[in-house]
Amino acid sequence: MNNILNQDLILKDKKVLIRVDLNVPMKNGAITETSRIEKIIPTIKLLIEKQAKIIVLSHIGRPKGKIVQGMSLEPISKKLSLLLNKEILFNKNIINENTISEVNKIPNGSIMMLENIRFNQGEESNDSKFAKKMSNLGDIYINDAFSCSHRSHASIEGITKYIPSYFGLQITEEINALKKITSEIKKPVTLIIGGSKISTKIKIINNLIKKFNNIIIVGGMANTMLKHTGSKVGKSICENDCEALIKKILENSNKYNCQIICPEDVVVSKNLENKGKDKNINEINDNEMILDIGPKTISLIEKIINDSNTVLWNGPAGYFENPYFQNGTKKILEIISQKTKKDKIFSVAGGGETVAAINKFKKLDSFTFVSTAGGAFLEYLEGKTLPGIKALNQNV
Ligand code: 3PG
Repeated sequence: MNNILNQDLILKDKKVLIRVDLNVPMKNGAITETSRIEKIIPTIKLLIEKQAKIIVLSHIGRPKGKIVQGMSLEPISKKLSLLLNKEILFNKNIINENTISEVNKIPNGSIMMLENIRFNQGEESNDSKFAKKMSNLGDIYINDAFSCSHRSHASIEGITKYIPSYFGLQITEEINALKKITSEIKKPVTLIIGGSKISTKIKIINNLIKKFNNIIIVGGMANTMLKHTGSKVGKSICENDCEALIKKILENSNKYNCQIICPEDVVVSKNLENKGKDKNINEINDNEMILDIGPKTISLIEKIINDSNTVLWNGPAGYFENPYFQNGTKKILEIISQKTKKDKIFSVAGGGETVAAINKFKKLDSFTFVSTAGGAFLEYLEGKTLPGIKALNQNV
């Protein structure tokens, strides 16, 4: 791995282009969640210490090659500046013929952030001319944006063809954690997977089923499994036409000796607002919907986690946005958290809704690793080679 921690890498006087993911949630111009900004701080501090001239590249939103008001990185550069307690020069222009002379003025150990890289036309199309032009702004390139590495974009993939390229600290930490749940696993290993649609997670299940001992299916996805195996699920959210997908999961579970676990009991309600009732899965009426897992299922999950060395969690167990149906998600978090704190398991969580649940219940420090990546995290678990990582591995 071509990493910036490489002792021989001298960065003093060098212009370092660093691609990070500052695509943070915003509401009315204000940043609502800062974990992606915080995650890049160690790499930036290391570059300051090494006296590099730091040029930060990032995107926010999907402006599709146009300048879009409200998608500027300027508020984010101010936030980063506050967190670092250091001035950040913000370059408001898209990359043009003046950008080289502007970046050439940066003193050692200081930072310039360029405007949203997706305002430039060649970024998303991975245009080679644009990638080359961008590479001319620096002496070396660092990718510290694992969460963007599933995109074949110019600032992620194309640029590495023209300039010596390195892994940053954050992307390295992320890959090392994910290896421990995909290729360097300490067994027994358990996946708890939830969310609404089994069809969007089928590739993950079929990839991990080969290596995992247990796959616990919760959330809306479990309803589809339960319905297929003959249970009545009333008016619960459920996908149709999934027979072939479920058949494959069940066949693979036999083939690879992986136990598939679905809820034994659930919390049901006639609507989303009212308090729910615990029921066994064979007792559900036509006018009821499943909104959480029940106490017997929670105990079963606890037992399986207690017998595991590694746990991966993606997707809530129920409609956790409503306090009546948050118990399952909260309990899973508590069980994993306790085991992790006692150093009994290696635990990883990731995915948009999962991170939202972890934040809601203030359990961010309860996992060995929490990935803030969305699509990239899921594609990695599907077993795909991410173009950004492949490009860095080829640039050695
Ligand atoms: C993300 O939020 O997952 C990354 O920033 C990638 O964003 P994108 O899905 O717009 O490419």
